[in-house]
Amino acid sequence: MKNDQEVQPLNQLRMEYERDILLESNVPQYPFPLFEQWIGEAMNSGQPEPNAMHLATVDGDGMPAGRIVLLKGCDEHGLTFYTNYNSDKGQQLEANPRAAATFFWPENERQIRITGQVARVDETESDAYFQSRPVGSRLGAWASAQSQPLPNRAALEKAMEAVSAQFADPMTIPRPPHWGGYRLKPITFEFWQGRRSRLHDRIKYSIDEAGAWTIVRLSP
Ligand SMILES: Cc1cc2nc3c(=O)[nH]c(=O)nc-3n(C[C@H](O)[C@H](O)[C@H](O)COP(=O)(O)O)c2cc1C
Repeated sequence: MKNDQEVQPLNQLRMEYERDILLESNVPQYPFPLFEQWIGEAMNSGQPEPNAMHLATVDGDGMPAGRIVLLKGCDEHGLTFYTNYNSDKGQQLEANPRAAATFFWPENERQIRITGQVARVDETESDAYFQSRPVGSRLGAWASAQSQPLPNRAALEKAMEAVSAQFADPMTIPRPPHWGGYRLKPITFEFWQGRRSRLHDRIKYSIDEAGAWTIVRLSP
């Protein structure tokens, strides 16, 4: 495809970050209130998909794999997202229940990186969230064998027609057994605030075996 637009060379793209600062003296002792504050500010900034996070897993050969998922809940127990348990990420998490999540909010000039252990949320919680989804999304969860090869687009649409006929009453669409939530229980959080001249602020929280959080500033 030909692109007639003038495009700036990538190596000349440059942006100064100067919207905010992050100081040890101003951060809470525990990371969760700061996480909730930053995600709230991202939501209020008007940028699209403020709850989108990059989720990194590792496959059985040790090859990293990344994709975006949507954060659907967050509290001191962890970060919840929903997916197909048979998908590539689902299989990777079942075999190796550790993950890294990264948020980037350009409007706030902020990044948060989280690492932790992953576990399925309980079935009643997945059921409740599934039933809160629009009908099309609920049917789509049945129609799509996420991450499996498809011969063509028509095959997916045919599968959707079949499940739409099978579950004609939207009140009785059950959650597929292969679909539900995972919760990432953090063991580290890193808060990154962009600053001038690439001298960014990085504050990292780590939890020790006794459950105490420690804070360290990292070089940018
Ligand atoms: C903005 C955005 C939001 C997404 N949200 C989800 C999600 O919440 N759950 C999900 O399973 N896939 C979501 N996806 C699709 C995933 O990125 C990915 O394509 C899919 O989960 C298959 O990944 P896997 O093959 O690594 O399992 C989203 C993609 C984008 C771009």
